[in-house]
Amino acid sequence: MPEAWWKSAVVYQIWPRSFADSNGDGVGDLPGVIGKLDYLRTLGVDAVWLSPFYRSPMDDMGYDISDYQDVDPVFGTLADIDELIAELHARDMKLMIDVVVNHTSDEHPWFIESRSAKDSPKRDWYWWRPSRPGMAPGEPGAEPTNWRAAFQGSAWEFDPATDEYYLHMFSRKQPDLNWENPEVRQAVYEMLRWWLDRGVDGFRMDVINLVSKFLPLVDGKPVPGTRFGDAWPQVSCGPRIHEFLHEMHLEVVAAQDRVLVTVGEMPGATLQDAQLFTDPVREEVDMIFQFEHVDLDHGPGGRYDPKALCLTDLKASLARWQTGLADRGWNSLYWDNHDQPRAVSRFGCDDPEYRVRSAKLLATVLHLHRGTPYVYQGEELGMTNYPWSSLDEFRDLDSLNYWAEAVGRGDDPGKVLAALRAQSRDNARTPMQWNGSENAGFTTGKPWIPVNPNCAEINAEAQLTDPTSVFTHYRRLIELRHEVAAVVHGDFTMRLDDDPHVYAFTREYADERLLVLANFDDHERSVELPDADEWTGAEVLISNYPDEPGRWTLRAWEATVLRRAPAPAVHEEPVPGQS
Ligand code: GLC
Repeated sequence: MPEAWWKSAVVYQIWPRSFADSNGDGVGDLPGVIGKLDYLRTLGVDAVWLSPFYRSPMDDMGYDISDYQDVDPVFGTLADIDELIAELHARDMKLMIDVVVNHTSDEHPWFIESRSAKDSPKRDWYWWRPSRPGMAPGEPGAEPTNWRAAFQGSAWEFDPATDEYYLHMFSRKQPDLNWENPEVRQAVYEMLRWWLDRGVDGFRMDVINLVSKFLPLVDGKPVPGTRFGDAWPQVSCGPRIHEFLHEMHLEVVAAQDRVLVTVGEMPGATLQDAQLFTDPVREEVDMIFQFEHVDLDHGPGGRYDPKALCLTDLKASLARWQTGLADRGWNSLYWDNHDQPRAVSRFGCDDPEYRVRSAKLLATVLHLHRGTPYVYQGEELGMTNYPWSSLDEFRDLDSLNYWAEAVGRGDDPGKVLAALRAQSRDNARTPMQWNGSENAGFTTGKPWIPVNPNCAEINAEAQLTDPTSVFTHYRRLIELRHEVAAVVHGDFTMRLDDDPHVYAFTREYADERLLVLANFDDHERSVELPDADEWTGAEVLISNYPDEPGRWTLRAWEATVLRRAPAPAVHEEPVPGQS
């Protein structure tokens, strides 16, 4: 097999509902995506991760699938997917599809069959349990365990048809599949092979570390402010997770004669877990999406209890993953995706004075790490969080459920709105800003979610040909990954670990050395490196300031990458008479 292409690749994530609408119904669709492939080619990305486009009741925006082998009519048809694959391949890009197989929709035929009777042949395809001993089915508190769902409320839904409860780690319309049952696993593998036959090049596997649960299912520690307990330690990376992933690799991936890519989304997975998951000899997945760095600004109350990010924590976390997966395994690199607020508003500064600069700084830092970088739609333009002013603007069920829970228990609505403003997933889901027109060129109809009014300044049309734009900076970073071996393969060493403002590291490969310096602050900061002399005369590979940097004095949000080129080879002339 040739070397894995994804090691030198940059992946672009498309969340189709908000990317481009071709038919004016206000919702993005597959023909809309196909119409933008030249834009992606210009950016230079190697692959697209396409978020769910399957048939779905859209309770969780498509992460609740009712037919894995069809396209939801709001997005298009199977013929559109075939065309998308062909058009991507024609431009030398790959397609990674998002597979959601920890759970299905409650409207999937498997679940409809499963819930129909206790003796249904598919009953055991999901997690059915009777009420707590001594309690009447359906009575509050009679749930089989005290688990809280990720989207608030109980993780168990009572089904009066058979007087039992089913498990759903997310919404009640997302029942968890029972991977202990080999028939379930075979059905999943068969479906994945069907997509490979259609030409897709890999899979992003949604919350795949939840497919093995610890048995028996027992109560978790109480979650403050709720009547529920924490399920996560009992459903995350359970005892059979490595076995299941290896089996899936053998059944689905290994049989192919081309190099695919697999990335497992794994909230709660540790570095030690990742070392096993991504060790190539174990044949599980190529890389994982870990959450440690994006959880650093969560307070004790979790996501909606935000706290200020401490740069030294961020550096320590990412450095640990860099070194921890250096010899075996591989990192995925991301700031943004459809579940996270916009990086420039969160880790950078979206004030107009520093927005462009800090967006470029974040990009520079991330893209100079070792691993596979992911760019989420609009990130390459420096898109920001939305200025939410009232609850009726939100669409995400997690945001809406959180509001209901928090306001319901008496939290101050102003404080709840502030938390949503900072952390809601809808920040990532406002439409892609193609131009400065009223609906940002996303749709000719009424957009399903508000368009950010800053599309007048932040949009693709204005940035494509501007050499100083965030887009152009991303383009150059992607080129560097393709051109400079040290960016892909270089050893990573964190420098200035304790500096609270400057993010500094080196990358080394053969004779080539890169030094990345980034000032995460509005004030000028000086840098003192003991080996500063060695960088005298080094070339500036990329910078977010137009003029030659002051080297050891970094201006506000300045990011610079220096390269010490390999020493020129010395050809010694043989001295006559000596051999
Ligand atoms: C993953 C997805 C998220 C979804 C959840 C349940 O975390 O990225 O969007 O809501 O799984 O499928």
